[in-house]
Amino acid sequence: MTIKRVLTGVKPTGTPHLGNWVGGIRPALELASRPGTEALLFIADAHALTTLPSPEDVQKSVYEVAATWLALGLDPARVLFYRQSRIPEDFELFWILTCVTPKGLMNRAHAYKALAAETMEKTPEDPDRQILMGVYNYPILMAADILLFQAHQVPVGKDQLQHLEIARDLAGKFNQAYGETFVLPDPLIPTQAEPLVGLDGRKMSKSYGNTIPLFAPSEVLRALVFKIQTNSLPSEAPKDPDTCALFGIYRHFVEEAEVQAMRARYAAGIGWGEMKTVLFQTLEAVLAPKRALYQELIADKKRLDKLLENGEDKARAIARETLKTVRTKVGLWA
Ligand code: TRP
Repeated sequence: MTIKRVLTGVKPTGTPHLGNWVGGIRPALELASRPGTEALLFIADAHALTTLPSPEDVQKSVYEVAATWLALGLDPARVLFYRQSRIPEDFELFWILTCVTPKGLMNRAHAYKALAAETMEKTPEDPDRQILMGVYNYPILMAADILLFQAHQVPVGKDQLQHLEIARDLAGKFNQAYGETFVLPDPLIPTQAEPLVGLDGRKMSKSYGNTIPLFAPSEVLRALVFKIQTNSLPSEAPKDPDTCALFGIYRHFVEEAEVQAMRARYAAGIGWGEMKTVLFQTLEAVLAPKRALYQELIADKKRLDKLLENGEDKARAIARETLKTVRTKVGLWA
């Protein structure tokens, strides 16, 4: 069997919620455990600097992300788990790729274009003045993250597709200039039928403020579940599970047989108080052990450092090999 190398990066931001787990973390971990897959997962801490967060926030978020993924089942014996900033080869490759990147390609990047349009309104006389080169160069660093490890597949959300195209483009340009060197990476868009619903029945999202944090204490979890919006049908009335936010969450946390059984209870009429209790108990049973592990990990930075350093050693061994080839090809090394 040919081994496929799958790589993805996670920006260290914000408190993770149920939607992040169901829509991002869980599918990524499933993918990583497929036979014939070599998985790499890194914390994109250097990418986070483009928004100029405080150093304390950067550190805090890095450990939060690490503890979150580990608590949710990332097995560091199977997945190479590391911090981007600890792989200096990434930044060297970034520069070398910059030298084959047409400026016009970067001008077309969505993130830059959106910012450029915004600043054009504010300071039309000098729109680029407000734009940091970190934002502008972001897609090149992302290409380096991927190409450095010769990744075949990159699981990303739809919003990252253009970045993936840029990475492929730059791999092609380098290969054309210096001979076959880089694997052209393919995006892997998770096929998630429906996003998780939030407290108000809309998609669960930080920007809507309708999330349920993954590691909230039991009482907070309970209070949030009881805040989930429902209609005002009486207990005994038959109800439609498919338009119900409670069911919309419930179905992601139980087996198919239980989903079907719950559909029958909706048809027969289930009171909202009862369903909220069931949902809370279901979530609590799944999350309590993970919350405990998260608390344990986040309180032990030394252990997290050790785990990450171990991944970083292995990741650097791969990175050094790529860099050796790249340096030779471009003439920096004989
Ligand atoms: N840009 C990605 C995001 O915002 C994070 C990221 C950085 C990434 N480097 C990557 C994802 C390399 C995949 C591969 O979500």
